[in-house]
Amino acid sequence: MNNYILTKNKTTWNAIADSFFGVTALPTYGCLCPTEDELRLFPDLSSKKVLDIGCGSGHSLKWCGDHGATELFGLDISERQLENAQRFLAENGYAPKLFCSPMEENPGLPTGYFDVVYSIYAIGWTVDLQKTFDLISDYLKPGGVFIFSWDHPFMHCVDIQDDKLIFSGSYFEQEPFTFMRTGSGKGAGRSPAVYEEGGNPLTLYNRRLSDYINALALAGFAVEKVVEETDKATLELDASFSSEYYAPCKAKHFPLSLIVKARKIIK
Ligand SMILES: C[S@@+](CC[C@H](N)C(=O)[O-])C[C@H]1O[C@@H](n2cnc3c(N)ncnc32)[C@H](O)[C@@H]1O
Repeated sequence: MNNYILTKNKTTWNAIADSFFGVTALPTYGCLCPTEDELRLFPDLSSKKVLDIGCGSGHSLKWCGDHGATELFGLDISERQLENAQRFLAENGYAPKLFCSPMEENPGLPTGYFDVVYSIYAIGWTVDLQKTFDLISDYLKPGGVFIFSWDHPFMHCVDIQDDKLIFSGSYFEQEPFTFMRTGSGKGAGRSPAVYEEGGNPLTLYNRRLSDYINALALAGFAVEKVVEETDKATLELDASFSSEYYAPCKAKHFPLSLIVKARKIIK
């Protein structure tokens, strides 16, 4: 089942890669949430080795290079994303080491090597969270930092209807679900889909906050910060109802994105 999901997701990511060029990248962590410019979760990157999990078009790696990182490594399941990243980073004077692989496997990355491993809106694509966190822990030096952002777990089960928050699903739901992306960028939405429909379906596992925190602990991490915030501008907005998946009217009531910083302490 999981191999089937990875194969299908890879095909879709290859097909939609060009429409994701630089869409979610540092200093942006996610949707209507504070940026790295405000949060300052990253250490000083001067002379540091960094690895981006689900590096997409390479825009976050460029941000790291611009902030002094000397070795830029990226991993992504999509060849097309990596072609775009290679071109974009070369155009900006960087020579990254890019690996085409699911994050659930080590394609030959060095272990005990990186100062910082991060993942901007990609970690939730894993079909095996524990294995992925265990690998990330292996890649890091002792004391190294892991930062990731992803949809807040409320996103899969809470909705807005007529100005009211409703539980439209179950927080405990752990079955994978398949959807079709509609629109792009901030206006992107999701509609239910089945593989047989054709098009570009994507499949994800829902996870609870505790799934992330407990998997980090098992992988030898100490959590240093969990960010569940909506940015100031959105909170001050007079946001009327809208049916977008990442709607400001939702963000005024709960965080759309989750950001976690952890440090490798054992392993
Ligand atoms: C929203 S994009 C991330 C954008 C990227 N962080 C940036 O800075 O531009 C999600 C990325 O995760 C990748 N991805 C999806 N499933 C994956 C998996 N199992 N292993 C590795 N990468 C995966 C996709 O190909 C896509 O490039």
